[in-house]
Amino acid sequence: MTDSRQTVLILDFGAQYTQLITRRVREHHVFSEIVPHSIKKSEVETISPKAIILSGGPSSVYGGDTPQFDDRILELDIPVLGICYGLQLIVHHWGGKVESKGNAEYGFAKIHRISNSNLLEGISDETQVWMSHGDAVTSIPEGWNVTARSSSDVIAVVERSDGQMFGTQFHPEVVHTTEGRKILSNFLFNIAHCTPDWTPASFIDKTVSEICNRVGNERILCGVSGGVDSAVAAKLIHKAVGDQLKAAFVDHGLLRKNETQYITHTLQPGLGLTIEVYDCSKSFLSRLKGITNPEEKRTTIGEEFIRSFESIAAREGGIGFLAQGTLYPDVIESGGGKSQGSASVIKSHHNVGGLPADIAFKLVEPLAELFKDEVREVGKELNIPEGILSRHPFPGPGLGVRIIGEITTERIEILQEADDIYIYLLKKWGLYDEIWQAFCVLIPIKTVGVMGDKRTYENLIALRAVTSLDGMTADWYKMPDDALNEISSQIVNKVKGVNRVVYDISSKPPSTIEWE
Ligand code: XMP
Repeated sequence: MTDSRQTVLILDFGAQYTQLITRRVREHHVFSEIVPHSIKKSEVETISPKAIILSGGPSSVYGGDTPQFDDRILELDIPVLGICYGLQLIVHHWGGKVESKGNAEYGFAKIHRISNSNLLEGISDETQVWMSHGDAVTSIPEGWNVTARSSSDVIAVVERSDGQMFGTQFHPEVVHTTEGRKILSNFLFNIAHCTPDWTPASFIDKTVSEICNRVGNERILCGVSGGVDSAVAAKLIHKAVGDQLKAAFVDHGLLRKNETQYITHTLQPGLGLTIEVYDCSKSFLSRLKGITNPEEKRTTIGEEFIRSFESIAAREGGIGFLAQGTLYPDVIESGGGKSQGSASVIKSHHNVGGLPADIAFKLVEPLAELFKDEVREVGKELNIPEGILSRHPFPGPGLGVRIIGEITTERIEILQEADDIYIYLLKKWGLYDEIWQAFCVLIPIKTVGVMGDKRTYENLIALRAVTSLDGMTADWYKMPDDALNEISSQIVNKVKGVNRVVYDISSKPPSTIEWE
C-alpha cells in the first residue's frame, strides 16, 4: 500500500457472501478489499491492514480439499474475525475441534449470549442470526471463550481471551442477522480501532492525486458512454488534469433512441466539460454484418471501440492514456481479486467487450475500487446532477447484446422504438427509480398475430426489468399489471413490425441480466 488509508482485508475462501462483507465494512466508512485466501503472510505485512476478516466458504477444515492458506497470518498482531468457515479455520489452527455432527443449520436461527463479550457489546441477549453451515466447532482451543450459543446448542461466537481474535458461526454481514451491523461495528471500532475515513471526499482526493502522478503532462482520452460510470470517471479525471482530458462519445450505432441529444444537451452541461461526438456507426455496423454469435459480437464491438479511440488519438496527437469506467465487481469477476490501486489495474474489461491484445494505450481505471452505489456517491460529491446519476446502467456493446441474432439497421430501429416507449412509460408510472435496470430485447423469431382483422407475422419483443444492488445478482421486478398492460399495448400499436410482447421473469443467477 502506498497510501496511509486504513484497510480491512477480507480473505476470500469462496463464500457467496464475500463481497457483501466488503460492502458492509465500507458502509462503516472503513476501506476494505478482497484478497485471495492464498495471500502470503509477507504480502499481508506489506499491506499492513487494521484488521483481517476470514470469509466463509464451502470447504471443511478436515477435508482433503482445504484451500491453501498461510496460517502464519493468524500469528500477526492484527485483530481477526473469522466468519463461518473462517471461524472453523481459526479454531482448528489453535487446537480446537470442528466436526460434522449432522446438526447443520441453514437459515434463520436464534443465538443467546452466555458470557461477557467484546464482539457482542450492546447486542440483545437473544438475537436472530443467519446460519449456513454443515460443520460446527465442538471444542475450543485453550485460552478461548464461547460467548454465544444457538438455540440448538451450536457454538455461535468464540473469542480469544486477549480480545484480538474472534469467530462467528453465523453471517453478521447478511441482513437476516438483525444486529449484524452492530457486531461488525464492534469489531471495526471497539476491537480493531479503525478510523471511519473512507468517504467519497477522501476517495476523490486520493484518486485525483493518483491520476495526476500517473498521467503527468500527458493527455488522456476518456470514452464517455452516457452511463454513470464513464460520466463519473470523466469528471474525476477532469478535476485532476483539466484540459489534458479529451472526452469522446463514440456513437457505435447501437445506442438508445436520441442518445446523442442526451450527450450534448444533458450530459455535457451536467458535467461541465466538452464532450466530442464521433459518429462511427458505419464502421461498427459493417464489421458486425452477418455476426450472430454473442461472444463474437462483443469482441468485434470491443475491438472496434479501441480502433475508434486510436484513430481519435492519432488525429488529436499526443494522447497516451485511455480511461475506462471499470468497477470493483469487474476486477473481482475477471480474477483480479486484489486491486492494485485505482490507476493501475489493467484488465480486459467488458465495458469495451474485451480489449484487443495490441492496445496502444496505457489504461487508467479510476473507479476500479468502487461498487456501483459508491460510484453514485462519488458522483454526488462531485456535484453531478441526480438525473445523470440515477440512469440505469447501459452496457458498452449497447443494443448489440439486446438484438439476438443478426444486427441490421431495421432491427436496431425496431428495438430503439420499443425501448423508448418502455422507458418513457416506466418513468410515467413512477417505476423507473424502483428498478435497477430495464430494457427491451429483440428476439429473432416471428409469431402470428391479428391486427385490424388482418393476420400478421411479426417480431417478438421481451421486456426485462430487474432489481439489484450491484448487478452481480438480480431479481426480476414484480411489475404492476396496469403498467405492463399499457407498455405492451403501446409497443404493439406504435412499433411497426412488432405484434407480441413478453415479460422476462428470470433472476440472476441462473440467468444473466443481459440476454447475450
Ligand atoms: P449480466 O448480463 O452479466 O450483466 O448479468 C450485469 C451488468 O453488467 C452490464 N453489462 C455490461 N456492461 N459492458 C458493460 O459496460 C458489457 O460488456 C456488459 N455486459 C453486461 C449489464 O448491463 C448489467 O448491468
